[in-house]
Amino acid sequence: MDTTKTIWLPPQSSTISPQIDNLFDFILWASTVLFIIVTFATIYFAIRYRRKGDVAKTTPYVENLGLEITWTVIPFILLMIIFVWGFKDYLRFHIIPAHAMEVKVTGQKWFWSYGYLDGPTTVGEMIVPVNKPIKLLMSSQDVIHSFFVPEFRVKMDVLPNRYTVTWFEAVHIGEFQVYCTEFCGKGHSEMLGKVKVLPQEEFDKWLEASSGPQEGETMVDYGARLFVKNACVTCHSVDGSKNVGPTFLGLFGRREVMASGETITVDENYLRESMLSPMAKVVTGYDPVMPTFQGILKNVDVDGLIAYIKSLEQK
Ligand code: CUA
Repeated sequence: MDTTKTIWLPPQSSTISPQIDNLFDFILWASTVLFIIVTFATIYFAIRYRRKGDVAKTTPYVENLGLEITWTVIPFILLMIIFVWGFKDYLRFHIIPAHAMEVKVTGQKWFWSYGYLDGPTTVGEMIVPVNKPIKLLMSSQDVIHSFFVPEFRVKMDVLPNRYTVTWFEAVHIGEFQVYCTEFCGKGHSEMLGKVKVLPQEEFDKWLEASSGPQEGETMVDYGARLFVKNACVTCHSVDGSKNVGPTFLGLFGRREVMASGETITVDENYLRESMLSPMAKVVTGYDPVMPTFQGILKNVDVDGLIAYIKSLEQK
């Protein structure tokens, strides 16, 4: 299989890519040939039959049934070829192999997260084994997003309150760029991710090792790792500086005024609630923009993050 990048298209890194590309090439070259024929005919006729002198009348109109049938039948055949070919590829995209591994894809402003049936939930990076069909069960927490991996030729809208489904089978090991291709607000262009394709053995090892704290890791270390992994770091500082959300430095035990006017003391239950239902109590002066981590953070993850936040005492 061709893995080199060309000026036209990215490498073909999934089983379906060559089929998609063949159809694309057919349409591209058929359109190119038609474009050349039409353009040159137009130029030729414009020159050949241009107005010469004072002739007011055009030549008499003569019907030509043969010609009319020809220019109807040829485009009809051409379009039917594209329709049948395209419909076959469409079915390939939508019929998911029975032995496919399922990954739950969630889009929200502005990141992707991935849930595994017997495994962890990852943020930003989908990890899959090579040469295995992967079924993507997709939904959105907020607005419409669209999941696109150019190298796999896979693209599907991700909607709130509904599942959409597609699949791919990666044929190359490596990292592949994920884009959001539906304008979804301020952070749309930064709603990027990666698909990391591993050999089956490495994938199995990763799946086994990726839940809960690692051996020899304290809850605080585990929380610190989740803090980066789940992108909390994008909006919360740990050095006291104000960001999109309140800083985590000295947060535990602090008295905060809520947007509702109520004053609360930050304790374990408040932190837990703020991760899972962030809109419940928003600190005054901040926009209610935090996404929910319900379904992403497991209990042990929430424990780890709370331990980490507790460790960030104001000196
Ligand atoms: Cu999500 Cu654009």
